[in-house]
Amino acid sequence: MMLHIPAVLTLDEVNYLRLRLEQTDWVDGKETVGAQGAQVKQNRQLPEHAAVSLELGEIVRAAVKRHPTFISAALPLRIVPPLFNAYAGGEHYGLHVDGAIRQIPNSTMTLRTDVSSTLFLCDPDEYDGGELEVVDSYGTHEVKLPAGDLILYPSTSLHQVRPVTRGVRVCSFFWSQSMIRDDARRTMLFEMDQSIQSLRMQLGDSAEVLSLTAQYHNLLRMWAET
Ligand code: NI
Repeated sequence: MMLHIPAVLTLDEVNYLRLRLEQTDWVDGKETVGAQGAQVKQNRQLPEHAAVSLELGEIVRAAVKRHPTFISAALPLRIVPPLFNAYAGGEHYGLHVDGAIRQIPNSTMTLRTDVSSTLFLCDPDEYDGGELEVVDSYGTHEVKLPAGDLILYPSTSLHQVRPVTRGVRVCSFFWSQSMIRDDARRTMLFEMDQSIQSLRMQLGDSAEVLSLTAQYHNLLRMWAET
């Protein structure tokens, strides 16, 4: 499932992150990628272990953890500290798949990448190109969102970032290990949860709504890894 979640960050949060990022030293994005990715990756990133990365990443992580749609769609068990990247002057990131396992910085823990997220920090009219393209069995999907909006997609997908030919594209990106490893199951639970919430708004806690809620939790109980 690909899902666009609007306004995950407030305008104030976006502006604060952008101001801080402008005052920060970026490094070559090849430093944080495996062998396949390094051949096709051309961008800049904040160093993963830098204090500023962890501090700014925490603002993004706190925002997604309090966002009910993100929680419902990703059902996160763990979220890596969000990272930041920038593309300009033709920089791009060719077709690749993200590594399955990531080390969590400053810890001995690892995380299985189930759900990938990109949070846009620039508006689409600030740069040309820079579309995120995600390939799945339904075709290729092009994404370029307003500042503060997030796209999530299964980490199993091939994807790329098209060359940025004008302006600068700055985003935050991160991975979640979901309690539900399988994308199809995660999608079913999301659709069910959204429908239950809509029914609850219309009908209140009717017997049927309570029954569906119980089934949702029983499926989660059956499938969740915690
Ligand atoms: Ni990627």
